[in-house]
Amino acid sequence: MLIFNNISIPLRTPLVLKATPRRNAVVLAQKQQQQQQTLTALTNLTISDEALASRGFALHRTINKLNLDHLNSVFVAVGFPRRDTDKIRVALENSDALLWIEYEKAERPVAFARATGDGVFNAIIWDVVVDPSFQGIGLGKAVMERLVNVLLEKGITNIALYSEPRVLGFYRPLGFVADPDGIRGMVYSRKQKKKR
Ligand SMILES: CC(C)(COP(=O)(O)OP(=O)(O)OC[C@H]1O[C@@H](n2cnc3c(N)ncnc32)[C@H](O)[C@@H]1OP(=O)(O)O)[C@@H](O)C(=O)NCCC(=O)NCCS
Repeated sequence: MLIFNNISIPLRTPLVLKATPRRNAVVLAQKQQQQQQTLTALTNLTISDEALASRGFALHRTINKLNLDHLNSVFVAVGFPRRDTDKIRVALENSDALLWIEYEKAERPVAFARATGDGVFNAIIWDVVVDPSFQGIGLGKAVMERLVNVLLEKGITNIALYSEPRVLGFYRPLGFVADPDGIRGMVYSRKQKKKR
């Protein structure tokens, strides 16, 4: 798991909070208050909305106009499993923020990213994809920079994501670090549980 490191605030996992709830809750509240006070500038955009538009790309921040079958095809094209489109709709409707880029000429989504969370403190970024035909021209960075800014504007600074090893080099320059202060992300693994 990678953590956004605009401000160095460690991620407090529910596991930590469970151990000594009261004390940690107070510490967490204090940290989060500091976070708000020391909030630095938003991420600078590498490519402006206007520059994207001049190249035929339109930015969208809602699912209106988003063809979910086309989006699903982009997911499949990059190697994600095909998922039920109705479930994707529910997931997107329950997301805190999302951003997608349409290639206007084809009227198709070519880049996408979304974040879920509690709306004030924490967010996790999911489904960062760029259509293979459009990779390497800055669209991935364009959606990520804007998605992070949407979250920072809401005051959300605990921003995490899961990264495949081959993509770590994409996320690092965007401000994400692995294991800040030794904190590790953990994932519930049914496979492991069955083994016991
Ligand atoms: C990873 C992905 C989103 C990157 O999108 P992209 O549009 O191709 O990336 P960009 O063109 O915006 O690249 C931005 C920068 O990251 C670098 N970069 C892109 N992919 C990279 C990778 N896999 N490893 C290291 N650096 C990478 C680019 O060289 C570029 O560097 P620069 O700013 O110095 O020029 C895209 O390749 C993708 O959809 N991959 C398949 C799905 C996936 O793996 N998603 C992430 C799930 S964890």
